[in-house]
Amino acid sequence: MKNIAVIGAGTMGNGIAHTFAQNGFKVQLIDISKQALTNGIATITKNLDRMIVKEKISETDKINTLNNISTYTSIKEGVEYAGLVVEAATENIDLKLSIFKTLNDACPNDTILASNTSSISITQIGAVTDRPEMVIGMHFMNPVPIMKLVEIIRGYNTSDEVTTTIMELSKKLGKIPVEVNDYPGFVANRILMPMINESIETLYNGVAGVSEIDTVMKLGMAHPMGPLQLADFIGLDVCLSILNVMYDGFKNPKYAPCPLLVNMVRAGKLGVKSGEGFYNYSENKKAEKVANQFSQK
Ligand SMILES: NC(=O)c1ccc[n+]([C@@H]2O[C@H](COP(=O)([O-])OP(=O)(O)OC[C@H]3O[C@@H](n4cnc5c(N)ncnc54)[C@H](O)[C@@H]3O)[C@@H](O)[C@H]2O)c1
Repeated sequence: MKNIAVIGAGTMGNGIAHTFAQNGFKVQLIDISKQALTNGIATITKNLDRMIVKEKISETDKINTLNNISTYTSIKEGVEYAGLVVEAATENIDLKLSIFKTLNDACPNDTILASNTSSISITQIGAVTDRPEMVIGMHFMNPVPIMKLVEIIRGYNTSDEVTTTIMELSKKLGKIPVEVNDYPGFVANRILMPMINESIETLYNGVAGVSEIDTVMKLGMAHPMGPLQLADFIGLDVCLSILNVMYDGFKNPKYAPCPLLVNMVRAGKLGVKSGEGFYNYSENKKAEKVANQFSQK
């Protein structure tokens, strides 16, 4: 497996492309937005430069990594030779189902189709293809080049062979894969999102302020960053969407998103990506400082 197509050049897509390319794979990075592709390559370049400064890679590694990535705005052209597709487009079920229908028709018959979805059912995604046994979840964590975990999600029909291939491939990227079954939120978000939601509820109820809540969890529980800051990094829209998937999937009110989260998303306060969430990132330097702090952990 030499050619990896990555769909979506946003926060996760550019990190996934970076990680495969740095490990010697040829990456076809695909996005409907030319601007997203330009921004994605700029982010990868900046992150590679940061790794050079930290003496983790050489200038030659940077050049080789960038040379391994080519960009496309058409899925059909980008996936022509792909052995694996990792879909990391916007977290929206209709969008993902439509992308996987396109992939099913456009990819060679032996291409494995993976989704980086945070919460959408892999079984449901697999069901719109003619190859549900070759559809799997490959849930990378943010920031992808740094975080070790990949949650590997087996859909109801995912084959043992495909699961083994993807577990082994993840190890080749220097990651630690963990196999889980396909239920709403999988493992990572089923545990993380109720904690984030409860932190927002605690703020909403006036129990404590943003910095107080995050400080309690950082210093008291040894979390590398507080849950409200983490929510800003993930994107408040992404958090809301994951909570809604769990709320609908389990029909259990314990996953109901806090009204403050709903209001903030409606108001366009999405966290780091919009410049403001629970913290203000309007000065670029401030956001970069927080990012640097996180990447050092
Ligand atoms: N942000 C996180 O911390 C995080 C962590 C783990 C998993 N995820 C998951 O990763 C996926 C991507 O999230 P993100 O935060 O990178 O989103 P993002 O908004 O940063 O990027 C999404 C990209 O998808 C592109 N896109 C939309 N429709 C497309 C299409 N039809 N074809 C090609 N590209 C298309 C958009 O132009 C955009 O550049 C989601 O499924 C999300 O749940 C996110």
